[in-house]
Amino acid sequence: MYILGIETTCDESGLGLIEIKEGKFRILKNEVSSQVKIHNRYGGVVPILAAREHEKNLPLLLKRIKEDFDLKKIDYLAFSVGPGLLPALVAGKKFTQNLAKELKKEIIPVNHLAAHWYSVLITKNKNDWQKIQTIEFPALVLIVSGGHTTLYLFRSWSEKRKLGETLDDAAGECLDKCARALDLGYPGGPEIEKKAMKAKNFFSLPKPLLHKGYQFSFAGLKTAFIDLLLEIKKFHQLDNQTVNDLSASLQKTVFEILIYKLKKASENLKTPTIIVSGGVSANKIFKKMVQKVIPQRRIFFPHRKFATDNGVNIALAGYFLFKESKLVLKANDVEVFPR
Ligand code: KG4
Ligand code: ZN
Repeated sequence: MYILGIETTCDESGLGLIEIKEGKFRILKNEVSSQVKIHNRYGGVVPILAAREHEKNLPLLLKRIKEDFDLKKIDYLAFSVGPGLLPALVAGKKFTQNLAKELKKEIIPVNHLAAHWYSVLITKNKNDWQKIQTIEFPALVLIVSGGHTTLYLFRSWSEKRKLGETLDDAAGECLDKCARALDLGYPGGPEIEKKAMKAKNFFSLPKPLLHKGYQFSFAGLKTAFIDLLLEIKKFHQLDNQTVNDLSASLQKTVFEILIYKLKKASENLKTPTIIVSGGVSANKIFKKMVQKVIPQRRIFFPHRKFATDNGVNIALAGYFLFKESKLVLKANDVEVFPR
């Protein structure tokens, strides 16, 4: 069985092709076109520009896949219907509908968050067959990205309960906005990670809602960070070392908040497995901190390449969702869900 995954929820145009056979799967294509350079000058994603870029990029990515793969062999298209930016999703929907009509195929609607949690199952390189791993449930699942910070308890892949989520900014959004204040460009997470490696001193920053259950809040931390930055700039010229120290302090505070809640849930619920995924999970220090603070649990992180948005994650989630519910849609029946 062949599934083509289509990702356009934010600023990455992604097409991923996977083949599934007898409990194994392999990645045949992973085409991603990042719009980072375009949004960089605005310090964040501009939805209408993202849509325009998806319209331009998707046909080019498809052309690359067509070069050595006959699209007629595809069984289903898997399309990420949301959550995401409305104009970006609409651009992806049009592309998916046209392709489905042209190839006479049906569409598996995929929740973008599902793509993040299934992504931890990808362990092998392109073209290498890999067994679909079984996960020991219950599992705690933390999705941390630019749009989401959500903690779930999974009893199985299909039975889940949301324990908490952010009440304001997502963790990645906080990193992105503070990076912008530091003039580090977009996306901020990877830049903050690089600067943090050269830190010598740490500033103290607040941890809002730390002791309030499993809800998260990062807007107050962002404001405190920007206030601190303005205070420093009032008296000194901002030098490289201070940027490094500020980056490390921010990153450490964000990760400590995430890990505090994850650890608490892990102690209370005693789940044998922990899954952490989404763009922020690409951060090496974060991964090390989780592994250190929460021992004796099987901890899954995605491979760095599959932590951020791409079409392979969508295709794999599409496979699991199809297996579970057999839900497929005709081209004209596809809807998008920004929230
Ligand atoms: O999952 P993703 O590609 O898109 C959403 O679903 O939102 O995540 C993007 C987010 C951005 O906020 C970006 O700054 C953050 O993930 N990110 C990182 C790293 N790489 C991406 N944050 C921290 N460290 C990284 N290495
Ligand atoms: Zn994402």
